[in-house]
Amino acid sequence: MFDTQQALQSIEKEIQNIALGTHPTELYEPIRYIMDLGGKRIRPILVLIGNYLFTDDWQKNTKPALAVEIFHNFTLLHDDIMDNAPIRRGKPTVHEKWNSNIALLSGDVMLVKAYQQLDFVEEKYFHTILRKFHQCAIEVCEGQQLDMNFEKVEKISQGEYINMIRLKTAVLLGFSLEFGAVIGGADPENAQQLYDFGVNIGIGFQLKDDLLDVYSDQAKFGKQVGGDIIANKKTFLLIKALEKATGETQDQLQSWLTKVDFDKEEKVKAIIEIYNSLNIKQETESKMNEYFYKAFQSLDSIPIKKEKKEALISFTNDLINREK
Ligand code: IPE
Ligand code: IPE
Ligand code: MG
Ligand code: MG
Ligand code: MG
Repeated sequence: MFDTQQALQSIEKEIQNIALGTHPTELYEPIRYIMDLGGKRIRPILVLIGNYLFTDDWQKNTKPALAVEIFHNFTLLHDDIMDNAPIRRGKPTVHEKWNSNIALLSGDVMLVKAYQQLDFVEEKYFHTILRKFHQCAIEVCEGQQLDMNFEKVEKISQGEYINMIRLKTAVLLGFSLEFGAVIGGADPENAQQLYDFGVNIGIGFQLKDDLLDVYSDQAKFGKQVGGDIIANKKTFLLIKALEKATGETQDQLQSWLTKVDFDKEEKVKAIIEIYNSLNIKQETESKMNEYFYKAFQSLDSIPIKKEKKEALISFTNDLINREK
């Protein structure tokens, strides 16, 4: 049986076992800091679930599964610089606590450490995994660049947005499941089906992240609520609001988006009022549900026992309902 709590415990234990150098301390302390701040660990859990679907030996794969968690944390160090984010997991971001140069270089080492973790992949799967990991890592960077480009563009279509979040977020969830499946001996077609499932839930996951950035309890969320609004991020919420706003609401929205000097709190409050008046929360939830639904539907055609699929379904439901 798959046990999420057990998976989480062994992931935490192996994170403590990651060998890091000690000198210079400025390079390694931030890595320990971000890795020890917690986080939901959803990507390595997805590797283990993907693995469990094809083998009963999933417990032995925690070490290779850490590759995706270390990679994810590397992207967070760099993402927080790009997004000018002050807090992460309820604590100061690395570039705030130390500085941006330190966050960049510690992040670089983490990318290498992520690759080192692939030493734990069985020889016969190594090249397949390596090739897929390369592709995924490049796509994440493409998505991150699009995310930044879009801050400066007035109008982004829903299609452009979905493609951007597919790249920056969803492909890593897809790869995580596929990774687990491949090292569990899945055939390429089934591994691909799991990848597609992961990409759909990944899109739903980023839509939820966009929602939480506006509608969440700061203490639970652990990130700066309203950060996306301050940065004019083209989230689904903003794209939908730009689509729906007319008349005075449209003028107000445009004026906030073009202001250079503004009080951050005031802007966040004003934009949330506009979102509320346009029913943007419900619109985003409905888009999010569309992708989760699509994922669930696709599960039917994957030839795995129903009881095994339950683990994946139940974990995905937790992602939909999460508060952070
Ligand atoms: C945050 O990912 C970055 C996104 C892709 C939205 P998570 O929400 O998985 O962050 P942690 O690892 O749990 O902190
Ligand atoms: C992050 O998207 C995607 C990556 C880190 C690659 P966000 O910028 O929305 O993630 P958070 O909200 O900072 O966690
Ligand atoms: Mg970002
Ligand atoms: Mg960010
Ligand atoms: Mg976000």
